[in-house]
Amino acid sequence: MRGFLVVGNKAVTEPFSLNDLPGAGRMDVLCRCTSQALFISHGIRKDVEVYLLLLGPPEPPKVVLVKGNEVKRMSPDERNVAGHIRKALSIESGKRWKKVHSGVYVSKKGLEELLEELSNSYSLVYLKEDGVNISKAKLPSNPLFILGDHEGLTEEQEEVVRNYVTLKLSLSPLSLLAEQCIVIVHYELDKPTYSSEIS
Ligand SMILES: C[S@@+](CC[C@H](N)C(=O)[O-])C[C@H]1O[C@@H](n2cnc3c(N)ncnc32)[C@H](O)[C@@H]1O
Repeated sequence: MRGFLVVGNKAVTEPFSLNDLPGAGRMDVLCRCTSQALFISHGIRKDVEVYLLLLGPPEPPKVVLVKGNEVKRMSPDERNVAGHIRKALSIESGKRWKKVHSGVYVSKKGLEELLEELSNSYSLVYLKEDGVNISKAKLPSNPLFILGDHEGLTEEQEEVVRNYVTLKLSLSPLSLLAEQCIVIVHYELDKPTYSSEIS
């Protein structure tokens, strides 16, 4: 499995207008990340889970989970992904995962609680510009990558993350968009399979 957790510090926690995704606390960033994590051309990566931690008003925290092996009627365009997130925000949620529809779940977990849960099934990796150069790092099996939104993680969030991650990984000397990081990670993780297929 591969997982991605995107922390949306401003992303709203109530249903929002599909006509103004940036105005919903940069929901556009979270939608593009979801799309890049899940979709390939004419297909979906069934071994991927995407966790979107929404920390904006009015009811933070909320987490929307999309499971690649279950999700139906999702397409790669931002507006479609946003529609699924909006639906998840329209139902009442508690600490336990609640199914919204096929492959989409919602819960009210904060960062630490979520990391505690995820660390039971994944090796957690924090993506950050000043981490270990990806060309020198050994990626763990079953990785889940933690990314910030347009503003990145706060210092307090980084402190929490530090307690759970096995690796802080840099993908480039440049500060990239979160969705670009996801594409690079997929490329790197796909490489070994691809190489063995062509050799
Ligand atoms: C647009 S960047 C945020 C930039 C923000 N100014 C900061 O200081 O974190 C979004 C996220 O992508 C990830 N990221 C961006 N560039 C990266 C790089 N070169 N290597 C690893 N992760 C990166 C980080 O997780 C970052 O929080």
